[in-house]
Amino acid sequence: MVTSAGSRNLDTEIAIHESAARQVDELWDRFEVFEALHHDVSICNPMSSSEVDEMLDWVDPQSGDRVLDLGCGNGTSLVELAQRGGFSGTGVDLSPWMLNAATRSHRARAATVDISWVLGDGARYTPRQPPEVALCLGAEWIWHDFNGTARALTELAAPGGKIAIGAMRLHLEADQSSVLANHGAIPAVADQRSRLESLGLQVDRVVHANDAGWDRYIANTGAAVAVWLTANPGLRSEDYANTQREWAELRERDRGIIGWSLWLCRTPG
Ligand SMILES: C[S@@+](CC[C@H](N)C(=O)[O-])C[C@H]1O[C@@H](n2cnc3c(N)ncnc32)[C@H](O)[C@@H]1O
Repeated sequence: MVTSAGSRNLDTEIAIHESAARQVDELWDRFEVFEALHHDVSICNPMSSSEVDEMLDWVDPQSGDRVLDLGCGNGTSLVELAQRGGFSGTGVDLSPWMLNAATRSHRARAATVDISWVLGDGARYTPRQPPEVALCLGAEWIWHDFNGTARALTELAAPGGKIAIGAMRLHLEADQSSVLANHGAIPAVADQRSRLESLGLQVDRVVHANDAGWDRYIANTGAAVAVWLTANPGLRSEDYANTQREWAELRERDRGIIGWSLWLCRTPG
């Protein structure tokens, strides 16, 4: 669904966390560009739908479990989990656009399952009770990087709980020392694994998204912004189309350097 750039009413089901309370208008503005590039993209990361299914099969929440998705985007993971069975879920995101899409999808596809949607900064959100499942896919910058994300999710999840983190990493075929010398430090799979293990997490599985996944994601943002530009003609939308072109150029530049993995872990206890 293409959202009109003019429609800015937060769905009444969305709770506003204190971290967003004084800036809702500004958030509509700030995240409009992200909306232009993602308004009809259900998976906003390089995973394929079968890789997402693999994650959902592993998460497999039991009745009564609490599932928290930080940087939940348009709610795809929570709504797809809800279609498989009951649990109570919370999706936190800083984009009002994304959360409006999440509530629409929730009502249309899994209305009977209890999912709360919260507009807020994931870094400042503390759940009332520790969730049995904590997810963060494609939003590791919320805690600066992979290491910060791993620490944050480990601290908030229940003992013996499940954590899924999807994040950028060094491309599997890249030479780490030459990337370090020429570009800067990018954590490799081994670095991410040792970070998780140093936090006491048990790694159950790691899923490496491939280059085709990245290409599909970038192509989806291109298709989305083209539709947005037609629906909302003008300079602002043309800026968004330029942003998307920059994303595509950066993707080409970093094709052999940056990859993406999903880590599926259990907390101790
Ligand atoms: C690349 S998308 C990933 C969305 C979703 N997890 C997925 O994989 O489809 C990143 C999401 O993080 C959200 N976001 C950005 N900064 C945030 C913050 N500080 N707190 C919560 N969400 C944030 C964006 O609005 C966006 O929905």
